[in-house]
Amino acid sequence: MADADYLRTNKALWDERVPIHLASDFYDVAGFKAGGQTLREFEPAEVGDVTGRRLVHLQCHFGLDTLSWARRGAHVTGLDFSEKAVEAARTVADETGLQARFVVADVYDAPMVLGETYDIVYTGLGALCWLPDIDRWAETVTSLLRPGGFVYLAEFHPFADTLDDEEGRSVTYDYFAEGPQIWDEPDAGSYADPQAPVQHTRSIEFVHGLGEVVTALTTAGLRLDFLHEHDHTLWQRFSVLERHGPAYRLPEGRPRIPLMYTLRATRPLD
Ligand SMILES: C[S@@+](CC[C@H](N)C(=O)[O-])C[C@H]1O[C@@H](n2cnc3c(N)ncnc32)[C@H](O)[C@@H]1O
Repeated sequence: MADADYLRTNKALWDERVPIHLASDFYDVAGFKAGGQTLREFEPAEVGDVTGRRLVHLQCHFGLDTLSWARRGAHVTGLDFSEKAVEAARTVADETGLQARFVVADVYDAPMVLGETYDIVYTGLGALCWLPDIDRWAETVTSLLRPGGFVYLAEFHPFADTLDDEEGRSVTYDYFAEGPQIWDEPDAGSYADPQAPVQHTRSIEFVHGLGEVVTALTTAGLRLDFLHEHDHTLWQRFSVLERHGPAYRLPEGRPRIPLMYTLRATRPLD
């Protein structure tokens, strides 16, 4: 598939979702503007103190997570290929008085476009599935890090993505699927507002197994610090999931499976 095909298709989908997400309860922009933050409890706990650290958020959407790191004292840059998302991120930054640099670019162009390195590369939560080449992504991440800096990735678990959408009981999708996966879900709205009417319903996505992601990062020269698997997720991934605050879990008594993972990998000192 030509690069332009997946980029054009996915960009149309993401551009259309920006105003829907801005208006959604899921993202609660008003709450953020009132002083809230959007990071999940485990993220600051696993990343540690970011005061004064230079952090870049790849695939930042309209920047609430990026700006949440700024509220915790980081010097932040956010990057996304959607102009509409970046415009919205800049507006939220202006309205909240938070300092941030937001840049429009494809992830793979980040080192060239940003022209600087960082203490922390932060990304995930529905990011890797949009990228065709995970080795190239790992090389991109590595070249954005100063020696001693680290990448922190929080992502939905690829094993959970093999299971049927209702009960999450039977293996339905191929864990080792290669090449683009083309989805068209006219009635699905968006994860942040399933009822929202949408026109751009086609997406071109890519499956990246856990071994593939870790191997890509270590091959690119990073040292794995930890890989944690989590028994909960952040949205109604399967209709049987039960909400406990911000976490969605399988009902009591069902054997647990990993629904998310987080990892940190460090660029060794030269
Ligand atoms: C699921 S969202 C990430 C969500 C984010 N963690 C959040 O909740 O705010 C995926 C983001 O990736 C961006 N994206 C997809 N493909 C991209 C690419 N090739 N380069 C840069 N950004 C991309 C989309 O515009 C979208 O904002």
